[in-house]
Amino acid sequence: MFNAIARRYDLANHLLSCGADFYWRNRAATIVANWRPVQIVDLATGTGDLAFALSRKLPQAEITGVDFSEEMLARARAKGLSRTILADAMQLPFASASVDCVTIAFGLRNLPDYGGGLREMQRVLNPGGHLLVLEFSLPRVPMLRAIYRFYLHRCLPAVGSLLTGERSAYQYLGDSIEQFPGGDAMLHLLEQSGFRDARGESLSGGIVTIYTAAKPL
Ligand SMILES: C[S@@+](CC[C@H](N)C(=O)[O-])C[C@H]1O[C@@H](n2cnc3c(N)ncnc32)[C@H](O)[C@@H]1O
Repeated sequence: MFNAIARRYDLANHLLSCGADFYWRNRAATIVANWRPVQIVDLATGTGDLAFALSRKLPQAEITGVDFSEEMLARARAKGLSRTILADAMQLPFASASVDCVTIAFGLRNLPDYGGGLREMQRVLNPGGHLLVLEFSLPRVPMLRAIYRFYLHRCLPAVGSLLTGERSAYQYLGDSIEQFPGGDAMLHLLEQSGFRDARGESLSGGIVTIYTAAKPL
């Protein structure tokens, strides 16, 4: 599915979010910059947009983009991401306790086992290292939630299909956002997966949330 949409992925992202995705990744990169990590692994990096936002804030950091879609990584490399690894986020090719920071934007939702994926991220982090998850969520305000659900299930598949020719990918997007644990459930999952200091920051009325957590020292 991700190979099939890779060619038009960036355009679809920017149009379907009305450009808000630049702001979301920029906010995520600002948070990561405050941790001053040296080695960063950006999981499910796709075409690399979070990795690029990170490298603008942290020009000295060593940022590696990981994805299991060769088409997505080819786009990321064409855009200038020099360190990429083709790998499954569920089985990372990194030693335990070897990186300072793991980021994952709009990727955790796609993993077959959220807890298993988070435990794998926890494994590769150094003690005291940080995790940042940027992910879609559902607004808490009922009226906003209803409007957003209409957009997710009625508008998004139609527009996504026009842009990429892959209607099912955008039907899947809405369904996976509905199924993904949000708010306190996500904070609980992070703590259960071995992280501490789990926090969430809602953006854009709650349609996106940034979760942060740390590996215990
Ligand atoms: C919605 S895109 C997000 C891309 C990018 N992080 C962004 O912010 O635009 C999801 C990405 O996750 C990747 N992905 C999904 N499951 C994966 C897995 N198990 N291991 C590695 N990458 C995965 C897909 O190939 C795709 O590039």
